[in-house]
Amino acid sequence: MSLEVIILAAGKGTRMRSDMPKVLHTLAGKPMLVHAVEQAQKLAPTRTHIIVGHGADQVEAQVKPLGAQCVPQEQQLGTGHAVAQAMPNVDSEATVLVLYGDVPLVPAALMQQLADQAMQGGLAILTVALDDSTGYGRIVRNDQGEIQAIVEHKDATPEQRQIKEINTGILAAKASLLNGWLPRIESDNAQGEIYLTDIVAMAVADGVPISHLQPEFAQQTQGVNDRVQLAELERWHQLQLANQLLRDGVQLADPSRFDLRGELTTGKDIFIDINAIIEGQVVLEDGVHIGPNCHLKDAHIGAGTHVFANSVIDQARVAKHCNIGPFARLRPGTVLEDGAKVGNFVETKKTTLGKGSKANHFTYLGDTVVGEKVNIGAGTITCNYDGVNKFQTNIEDGAFIGSNSSIVAPVTIGAGATVGAGSTITKDVADNNLAIARGKQRNLASWAKPVKS
Ligand code: UD1
Ligand code: CA
Repeated sequence: MSLEVIILAAGKGTRMRSDMPKVLHTLAGKPMLVHAVEQAQKLAPTRTHIIVGHGADQVEAQVKPLGAQCVPQEQQLGTGHAVAQAMPNVDSEATVLVLYGDVPLVPAALMQQLADQAMQGGLAILTVALDDSTGYGRIVRNDQGEIQAIVEHKDATPEQRQIKEINTGILAAKASLLNGWLPRIESDNAQGEIYLTDIVAMAVADGVPISHLQPEFAQQTQGVNDRVQLAELERWHQLQLANQLLRDGVQLADPSRFDLRGELTTGKDIFIDINAIIEGQVVLEDGVHIGPNCHLKDAHIGAGTHVFANSVIDQARVAKHCNIGPFARLRPGTVLEDGAKVGNFVETKKTTLGKGSKANHFTYLGDTVVGEKVNIGAGTITCNYDGVNKFQTNIEDGAFIGSNSSIVAPVTIGAGATVGAGSTITKDVADNNLAIARGKQRNLASWAKPVKS
């Protein structure tokens, strides 16, 4: 039997105090709505419908590439009205799973359980008991413990407000049942809205069985209304990710000072010091050591490599047993081959550093191919840009670049060549030659210091 998913995402999210639609605010570097869509897609639904209103164009741009279809809800008349907008596009034989775009951490397995229950023919709802249930729809049960209704906070009696079990908003039912219930919902309530939750009392009246499920952790069904809640959920989620890495054998100096905003693939015996930010797709091979305050994005770090404190690595490939930093910046297109060293205040861009080559201090290498066992002296700059175009520098195997040299591209420094310190190199240097291009030193013995007039 087919499954279709409807995700409510039309609300403005006033309390975020933002120009961006609430569901596009990010958790672990990804829009909340994208979290929900990605988990839902693990259930392989035939269609995913996103109900959009505020910032519809922005929301659509995010979810279209994921294969979801957007359904406009011009006016936000309530959650029941929102679901009704999608129903004309839903196969009447399908089972429907309703999710919220501002509830990002519902696990796919829990969604699947709820959908499976609904496929038996009843209404399946996800509830959770909270110490403070203020503001939520309360689950009203009879003396037998059977669910009778959901009563919204604003409509609840003082006794009902004591109820700790709340409606997470997430539910599943066959489309045929929803098609029967939705048109009958009225808006005679405290908020004048078309409440989706009214279908619970309708199910009771129709004798349709109601089943319920609870999440393992309340955070998995926590919705986000403001930035405080978003920050709290981020910290909880990051701690889950950090604990999973610890269980996988990665040592984190402090799991509460670690941020993963993407996917991290790890080998064995990796150590990550405090305040690491890992973004995009990052691979750390066996024995990698990441020092404090490092930012790694879309990077592959080979076995035994040491990244020292305060280094930034973005779209770079680093081979085995390299040393990077402290205070190094590897920009996109950097490749370090085995045993290469990039030290403090060194910036590289579209640059390959061959096996065992070193640029240990205060250097910029851009659009450069450095061979093996090359030594780049402190303060070396490749001048790759003439203000209009970028040019390539080649520094061949075993070359030695003296400190404070400017290498003006396009230029090639041959294998085994030496560049004298302080040179401005504008012409190719042949293999094994010494190039010196600097003002000659003169010492004037007759020099008299000026005196104050
Ligand atoms: C809703 C539930 C409440 C539950 C709570 C859980 C109803 C009537 N109430 O209340 O029982 O405890 O969620 O967080 O369902 N939305 C639309 N279109 C609309 C209205 C809402 O897309 O016309 C979207 C919102 O953007 C949001 C979600 O639906 O993502 C929930 O709407 P919201 O107004 O926040 O519902 P609550 O009052 O929190
Ligand atoms: Ca809400």
